[in-house]
Amino acid sequence: MKAPVIKVEGLTKHFGSFTAVDHVSFEVYEGEVVGYLGPNGSGKTTTMRMLLGLLQPSAGRAKVFGFDVAREAESIRPLVGYMSQKFALYEELTVQENLEFYAGVYGMRATAYRPRVAEVMDLVGLTGQERERADVLSAGWRQRLALGIALVHTPRLLFLDEPTSGVDPVARRLFWDLIYTLAEQGVTVFVSTHYMDEAEHCGRLGIMYQGQLLAMDTPSALKQGYLHGQAWDIVAAPLLPALDALQALPGIRQTGLLGDHLHAISEPGSYTAESLATALVAAGIAESQVEATEPTLEDVFIQQTATR
Ligand SMILES: Nc1ncnc2c1ncn2[C@@H]1O[C@H](COP(=O)(O)OP(=O)(O)OP(=O)(O)O)[C@@H](O)[C@H]1O
Ligand SMILES: [Mg+2]
Repeated sequence: MKAPVIKVEGLTKHFGSFTAVDHVSFEVYEGEVVGYLGPNGSGKTTTMRMLLGLLQPSAGRAKVFGFDVAREAESIRPLVGYMSQKFALYEELTVQENLEFYAGVYGMRATAYRPRVAEVMDLVGLTGQERERADVLSAGWRQRLALGIALVHTPRLLFLDEPTSGVDPVARRLFWDLIYTLAEQGVTVFVSTHYMDEAEHCGRLGIMYQGQLLAMDTPSALKQGYLHGQAWDIVAAPLLPALDALQALPGIRQTGLLGDHLHAISEPGSYTAESLATALVAAGIAESQVEATEPTLEDVFIQQTATR
């Protein structure tokens, strides 16, 4: 097997007496799209900053392309692209000038960066916007420009820190198409998010909570590993009284709306589809369709974090 692109062993960061990242270990391989899912303050940015060599680990170690993040950060930087959570654009510069400026920062000469800047604009879909000033771009365009900047020096590994926060669902979708285009070209992507739907797009997914990596696996394996109950999809009308009735049933642990239907988790062995429908009738919901289903990533996340 090839050496991992990222190898993290017991990586830890303390800020005073507070532990922001707590003995995290994982590996990422070439061409993977690995998600890092976690709520605010769970340690996602702190992990990335250590992997980029921007923040010294308190304990443990990590290697990126075989280079130690604590001692060999200079060797890592040219090989990786970083789209920071609070990325900065030069507002008074145009799209093209922003890209050219950052190419210069990476030490690229004009003969090298002119064709690369054109290529990057095409890749992220900014062709035609070259002369727009950054300060007039919409959130979705700004995000693409920030991605383009992270790509200008042709990195083989991209760190994207909540790249789609604050952009609309259509722009988010387009952005994920872009991530997959890059992965097809062999770029490895490590991307943090707190959106469950985005987490579904990742090849593998790490679940961060209070500085700890609770699990890392493919979304389907994470769901298959969910042994703590049965998930149900329930079509019922009217929806909200049905939700109340469902919540009140014994043995029902989690409930919620999922699109146009209800989703619930019951204690293992507590219901069949028929008995759950019968229980709903007894609770005053005359008609419902109950189907056993796979847990969602949100179910997995709640289960993983509930016991902590
Ligand atoms: N320089 C610092 N000094 C002290 N505490 C810090 C510092 N940087 C981060 N923290 C704390 O460490 C914890 C983890 O922060 P981090 O930014 O890694 O979380 P995150 O998962 O990226 O959250 P978000 O989704 O809000 O971006 C937070 O409680 C944060 O307040
Ligand atoms: Mg963050």
